[in-house]
Amino acid sequence: METSPKNPVSLDILTALCKRRGFIFQSAEIYGGLNGFYDFGHLGVLLKNNLRQAWIRSLDNEKGEIVLMEGALIGPEAMWIASGHVENFHDPMVDCMECKHRFRADQINLDKACSNCGKKNWTEVRNFNMMLKTTIGASESSGSTGYLRPETAQAIFVNFKNVLSTARVKIPFGIAQIGKSFRNEITPRQFLFRMREFEQMEIEWFCKPQDAKEMFEFWRKKRLEFYYSLGISQDKLRLRSHEKDELSHYSSGTDDVEYNFPFGWKELEGIAHRKNFDLTQHSKHSGKDLSVFDESTKTSYVPDVVECSVGSDRLLLTLLFDSYREDTVEGETRNYFAFAPHVAPIKAGFFPLSKQLEEPMHKIYQNVRAVIPHVQFDLSGSIGKRYRRQDEIGTPFCFTYDFESEATQTVTVRERDTTRQHRIAIDQIIPFLQKALQPNTN
Ligand code: GAP
Repeated sequence: METSPKNPVSLDILTALCKRRGFIFQSAEIYGGLNGFYDFGHLGVLLKNNLRQAWIRSLDNEKGEIVLMEGALIGPEAMWIASGHVENFHDPMVDCMECKHRFRADQINLDKACSNCGKKNWTEVRNFNMMLKTTIGASESSGSTGYLRPETAQAIFVNFKNVLSTARVKIPFGIAQIGKSFRNEITPRQFLFRMREFEQMEIEWFCKPQDAKEMFEFWRKKRLEFYYSLGISQDKLRLRSHEKDELSHYSSGTDDVEYNFPFGWKELEGIAHRKNFDLTQHSKHSGKDLSVFDESTKTSYVPDVVECSVGSDRLLLTLLFDSYREDTVEGETRNYFAFAPHVAPIKAGFFPLSKQLEEPMHKIYQNVRAVIPHVQFDLSGSIGKRYRRQDEIGTPFCFTYDFESEATQTVTVRERDTTRQHRIAIDQIIPFLQKALQPNTN
């Protein structure tokens, strides 16, 4: 056996693999697909759930409490005017007058010809608001305008007082949310990287203005540690500070956690110092006081906010890219995902060596399944084929019941990355898995 794992992954390899093995499908594919939208199959859902859980666990910190909330996906126009999104949430757009192809003007060189038709005949650059507008109410004419949220954050800001008065929290504290966001991206692309409907995991951390700098530093470090804990290659992660002209309308300083994708270093998470921009705006527009009272100074102030925002789908894509491996096993090329066991969608495979041994192994599988969800039983094909099937979806362990098993009350356990096998007592399978599936034990 030779093992020299490489990571020669491309976007095409990943997209095809994700479809073939039921992780991710193009949305509405049988109708020709909807650009920028994706549906998740069983394995994709399990993987995403594991990432959500890991993210929630990562909120725990020594500086203060973080509580969860889940806001509505649609907000009234007044809220999005206050937040600045109606006026400012746009990208520059340009069309080719020859072939009618549309581009984001900041992503192409307008001195060159159109990459689609080879001619050079551009329209003026215009600003395109990326929010998806809808009408709330029974009729178009009498309904009111709403927008699908382009970030989850605003639901947190408008609920700031509700949470403060009900959750028994004190500044500094955070409100965290996982939920869908929608952006009418001009050029959705690179699979899950830039979608029109995607999920965000956001923390809004409220603190005293004088502590914001220290908190910003704290979260920069803490968020990077989260990615390390998922097993993402440290040399492919970095922090990069935004230049002044890159900053969003609400930010006075942003650092991105970037990942080195096959298409270059790109943003994975944004960490922004939003100052008190949002609370002040909502206070002004709604007429409600969103300040807090400081007992020590007996004065009121509007807290500053440090925000950490990552897309679940973009994180899932990062993990797929980072974990993909190819090596040679017994003269054949195999591919696998080297997921950390706690994030792997399927935790273990259970194989009887032959049909005759199905019953005792099925019993073991049922016992394990009652304690550890998301394990699979597989009887079809050679053992080698069964291993490959599990490798390809990133299952960290496979147990095989063979002709020695009954007499010795043991099975073999085979580890995905090294393909090493050793025997383990049947009554040790559950404790073995419980230990191996703990976060950060790898
Ligand atoms: N509340 C701040 C905010 O929304 P952002 O940098 O626009 O900031 C935060 O987005 C994160 O959301 C990004 O770092 C990325 O992970 C994810 N994200 C943004 N737009 C996305 C898109 N079109 N498709 C997938 N993920 C996206």
